[in-house]
Amino acid sequence: MNLLHLDKIDSTNKYAKENITQIPDGTIVYADIQTAGRGRLNRKWNDTGIENIYASIVLKPSEKFVDCYSNLTQFLCLIICYTLEDYGVNPKIKWPNDIQINKKKISGILAEAVMVEGALKGIVLGFGINLNTSQNILDKIDQPATSLNIETGKTIDKKEFLDKLTKKFCLLYNKFLEDGFLLIKDDYIRRAGFLKQEVTVRLPDKDVSGIAEGVTDTGALILKDKNNKEHILLIGDIL
Ligand code: BTN
Repeated sequence: MNLLHLDKIDSTNKYAKENITQIPDGTIVYADIQTAGRGRLNRKWNDTGIENIYASIVLKPSEKFVDCYSNLTQFLCLIICYTLEDYGVNPKIKWPNDIQINKKKISGILAEAVMVEGALKGIVLGFGINLNTSQNILDKIDQPATSLNIETGKTIDKKEFLDKLTKKFCLLYNKFLEDGFLLIKDDYIRRAGFLKQEVTVRLPDKDVSGIAEGVTDTGALILKDKNNKEHILLIGDIL
């Protein structure tokens, strides 16, 4: 994987999308300072200091969008979990790709595809990870949040963390493109913190509540509402 380091940028996702044709497949664009980071559900992603990760992986697997590309966020989510586990913590996934430790968010992913006249120019997998943040700064975030240094009691070396993460990503990426979500389903479910719980999922047009019953072979959420109606949700976010 190539590393493209930026001192300061508004958003690594925005930068990667704007420069998609010049950025080679398999590049990680990462910034020390991100001034206008964006999250899912039109949220912003706070800059919590220079020793945290603000990064976007640029992927160009083919010119045609294949279904399993939608699961790349879940793939990256699991790779981040594996990397966090190397530090002795126990991350849990909130469908589809939030990562929490003890119900506090430590990482989020924002995937964006660049399509031009029906052709896929690239996929930008943006991710933020709180590696070294003070409790003071975390308290200013609009949802419960934590950081790896707080969970482990140790300062985390950002370069070393990124190195571990990219190695794990590269090791499984080609196999993931062949097998899709099934390759990671068991490991994903083992870390799912939302199953058998009452959840509310935000869809583009409405919210649905119910019990999260499971995850399908293609990574969709199976939700049973209070009338026992089953919903198979391909997109959305557990609130
Ligand atoms: C979320 O949990 O809502 C997703 C957050 C994604 C944040 C990352 S930080 C690097 C990249 N650039 C952005 O503007 N957003 C993503």
